[in-house]
Amino acid sequence: MSKEKNQAKYKIAVIPGDGTGTEVINEGLKVLEAVSKIHKFAYETKVFDFGGERYLKTGKTLDDTDINELKKYNAIFLGAIGHPDVKPGILETGILLKLRFSLDQYINLRPIKLYNAAFCPLKDKKAEDIDFVVVRENSEGLYKGMGEFKDKGTKDEVAIQLSYNTRKGVERCIRYAFEYCRKRNRRKKLTLCGKTNVLTYAWDLWQRTFNEVAKEYPDVSTDYAHVDATTMWFVKNPEWFDVIVTDNMFGDIITDLGAMIQGGMGIAAGGNINPEGVSMFEPIGGSAPKYTGKNVINPLAAICAAGMLLENLGEKQAAAAIEKAVIKIVQKDMKSLAAGKMGYSTSEVGNLVVKNLR
Ligand code: IPM
Ligand code: MN
Repeated sequence: MSKEKNQAKYKIAVIPGDGTGTEVINEGLKVLEAVSKIHKFAYETKVFDFGGERYLKTGKTLDDTDINELKKYNAIFLGAIGHPDVKPGILETGILLKLRFSLDQYINLRPIKLYNAAFCPLKDKKAEDIDFVVVRENSEGLYKGMGEFKDKGTKDEVAIQLSYNTRKGVERCIRYAFEYCRKRNRRKKLTLCGKTNVLTYAWDLWQRTFNEVAKEYPDVSTDYAHVDATTMWFVKNPEWFDVIVTDNMFGDIITDLGAMIQGGMGIAAGGNINPEGVSMFEPIGGSAPKYTGKNVINPLAAICAAGMLLENLGEKQAAAAIEKAVIKIVQKDMKSLAAGKMGYSTSEVGNLVVKNLR
């Protein structure tokens, strides 16, 4: 074989992480390998052991050397971060948020698409009624970790948690959402989801920026919804949405609801995107300790995340092939999208996707 043929086009860093992370990542890698043969692209992977186990053994989460190493890759494929024996917050901030912030993955992209109405908890909704995308700001807001305690531990204690919003940070997110909405070319409607009626500093900035940037996109229609009302519309009229842009905290909350109406955490994937740098793709569910090692977790979210990763690398046909295969088995084969109820094991679901790839 010529040298050229051996040369991997893409370097993918793989972080299986904790709990069921390894099981779902294995299926994602299985599908990646199969689709790379059909659509003819070469890649190489390197597995990193960041996660709860390593933390318990070494006390290490993620340091700058690790981050610099990851910068050499074209993309990151992440399983799950979270360990029952580690105090909440340590791994989340030390690994997941550290990755997002250090790699400046300022967009969290979460498609909400229902593939089979039978798996939707909403009454009388058809698959085509639920097909929208949330663009969540991923580097600022309440996630910035700014704040303080006053008189901690006393009866006069005050805990302050600040939402940090910069014009530049808000604008780049909103601009991304407009571009995304235009490229998606579906209903060309972008909804700003906020709380202008109460959070009068942050959402004033968001609203002003949104209105200004909107002038550059006359082909995209705009809308505004308060976050509380947004959760109501997700349940009542999800068909109203095309693309939604929102801040980090609201995006976190509404995308869990979004995951439920698209069929659950078993199918919900997301991308942490730095359009100018290294992006990271993950199933949005957690490490699911109670299902770990049982070969019952649904790997489709991880497989869909692999699809998003390929889309991001420019392998559009391979990404489309994965989505098509997933749609097919979700419509024809699977009994449920929930862990242990799929009618198939984790690895069998991976095999089914591979079998349906074209
Ligand atoms: C998510 C998760 C994370 C978040 C946690 C694990 C820190 O819930 O990706 O939505 O809040 O962003
Ligand atoms: Mn979340």
